[in-house]
Amino acid sequence: MDKKATLKYGDTSYEMPIVQGSYEERGVDIRSLRKDTGLITLDSGFMNTGATTSDITFINGEEGILLYRGYPIEQLAEHSTFVETAYLLIYGDLPTETELAAFSRSLTYHSMLHEDMRHFFDGYPWQAHPMAILSSMVCSLSAYYPDSLEPDIHNHEHIARLMSKLRTIAAFSYQKMQGRPVVYPRNELKYCANFLHMMFSHPAEPTYEPDPELVRALNTLLILHADHEQNCSTSTVRLVGSSQASLYAAISAGICALWGPLHGGANQAVIEMLEEIRDEGGDCSTFIRQVKDRQRRLMGFGHRVYKNFDPRATILKTYADRLLKHLAIEDPLFDIAQELEEVALSDPFFIERNLYPNVDFYSGILYRVMGIPTKMFTVMFALGRIPGWIAHWREMMEDPDVRIGRPRQIYTGATKRDYVPVNDRG
Ligand code: ACO
Repeated sequence: MDKKATLKYGDTSYEMPIVQGSYEERGVDIRSLRKDTGLITLDSGFMNTGATTSDITFINGEEGILLYRGYPIEQLAEHSTFVETAYLLIYGDLPTETELAAFSRSLTYHSMLHEDMRHFFDGYPWQAHPMAILSSMVCSLSAYYPDSLEPDIHNHEHIARLMSKLRTIAAFSYQKMQGRPVVYPRNELKYCANFLHMMFSHPAEPTYEPDPELVRALNTLLILHADHEQNCSTSTVRLVGSSQASLYAAISAGICALWGPLHGGANQAVIEMLEEIRDEGGDCSTFIRQVKDRQRRLMGFGHRVYKNFDPRATILKTYADRLLKHLAIEDPLFDIAQELEEVALSDPFFIERNLYPNVDFYSGILYRVMGIPTKMFTVMFALGRIPGWIAHWREMMEDPDVRIGRPRQIYTGATKRDYVPVNDRG
């Protein structure tokens, strides 16, 4: 692009190129800023800083648009499967029938865990948070597949192995939490159905067959979580990957980043908040008042990027309603969530700050209805986000301009001073 931005500093003006994206979003390319001016930029929380260009996901936060490789999230949620969407994100295009069959076969082939790894589950206390298990088990995959230590984006086996085994590890960690033996995958089942089987079959329920409506809901949930450009966990994957650490190490770090309540942990925090409101008598107006008084936070609301609505939340709300009807369940938490949304969306505090339900506001309700316990919610998020993390890792590794991620800082500590032996310190 011909346009340039000019920075005037002292008596000198510096010109910096403008980089333009597919939808005319623009960024100032400051790569030579420090060399040219001695200055760095300071942007805590990366509110304005683009870490990379990317072909994977487009978000327009003002208009509530989310595209994976150009395809609207609404279309994928309605027509695609999680495995097909994963292929799209990782490889760039929707697969042909043959490509999809090969990818699915590969996922099926890698569904088992090494038996030694299965014994790891015996070492965790039963009350261990499944995210702690997930991140350490994923990192441990590097020990069992040492060729993965060499980051190689053309090694498709690593990718299928990771996606497939993450699902098995997630389900095993749930069985562990329940104090039950783990359930092995059934290879005739498709990805989501196989996950539900590993979660909910057990020796006393050997004939469990996943309800197709639950399988569809799970596909949708995972599709909606599959990528969200440069968020906290994806940026972590890219940062760790930029040091040439293995794919499994980078993804394990991403899982840890996702865990926090301001990111993927919010779905757990939402249900805990709704339960608190229910236990306190279900008074949403009082709760909202406390949020405005800064005594509490409305979890599942607000987003760094979406400032109008989160399209994923809209789809999930409809799905929650549909699934509750299908299973003929009444969930008081769903009623409280809807009332909270209504009260908040008509309140100037939330309107002025552009705070709307995000993906986590209704996802927990759906997981609950599916029988998935609260502690597992963030694991479900990780299961959905895995293709996005892999796609970003591949994109970064393929980028000839990529350098190790290493932000700068403005030092504000003590200036140089001399060491004082301990006996001489006051
Ligand atoms: N409840 C109450 N007030 C809020 C909320 C909320 N959920 N979110 C933002 N605000 C207020 C802030 O207090 C701030 O008000 P102020 O300017 O008067 O101080 C203003 O809105 C701007 O909020 P920030 O925290 O500056 O926004 P930021 O972009 O840094 O944070 C975040 C975004 C972390 C998502 C925030 O909205 C939040 O904490 N939400 C609740 C947690 C949550 O749902 N996280 C999941 C996000 S989606 C995801 O990661 C998958």
